[in-house]
Amino acid sequence: MFKQSPNSRTDAEYEERRFHFPPSHIRLRSLSGIESETAWPDASILWFTGLSGAGKSAIADRLEAALHACGRLTYVLDGDSVRRGLCKDLGFNEEDRRENVRRVAEVAKLMADAGVVVLVCLISPFHSDRELAKSIAGKHVFAEIHVHAPLPVAEARDPKGLYRLARHGAIRNFTGIDSPYEKPMTPDVFIDTCSSSIDEAANIVLGWLARHLI
Ligand code: ADX
Repeated sequence: MFKQSPNSRTDAEYEERRFHFPPSHIRLRSLSGIESETAWPDASILWFTGLSGAGKSAIADRLEAALHACGRLTYVLDGDSVRRGLCKDLGFNEEDRRENVRRVAEVAKLMADAGVVVLVCLISPFHSDRELAKSIAGKHVFAEIHVHAPLPVAEARDPKGLYRLARHGAIRNFTGIDSPYEKPMTPDVFIDTCSSSIDEAANIVLGWLARHLI
């Protein structure tokens, strides 16, 4: 008789076989030094969206360090790095950005299945693509974090010199210049990097996590 290979499990079977980690009780030490005993969700996906130069990666890096200090397993999935490998065949038209978001969301979901707190830093400029990411995350805690800086501020920072190239027409479809950024209407967390430092921003996300325990 034909024996089904283990590779042909249904999604529901995979879901059932998933490891379920008990929430870890850890001592949370916020960046401001306040300590409290808390239980973290077994995994979560923190989705940072915002213009290039808004501060997504800087905040995610700072937050990752804080989560590490609390003993959490973390991974940062950053647009610039995934586009060198996993998504190197993709450009910046709407269709490719959607595929970029979809792939990264699928990877984030698998990592979260393994108990990792995943910090995703993608411009992800379109509302429908972020909704897709959230639906892919399924049962995992998912936070849409809008890292905001007004375009003139992000452009003045221009850490990679790309806004300048976009203004000169050397780069096409650049978000904020000749490609739109749809601001989240109701983000779980809103951070304005003109008024919050990196540490303050990381603390805001830590606060959100502490309020959204399983
Ligand atoms: S997304 O829109 O598909 O989510 P993603 O976050 O992966 O974008 O990549 C954004 C990074 O790619 C930017 O930080 C910037 O360094 C680089 N980049 C190169 N070309 C563009 C472009 N046309 N628009 C936006 N970012 C670009």
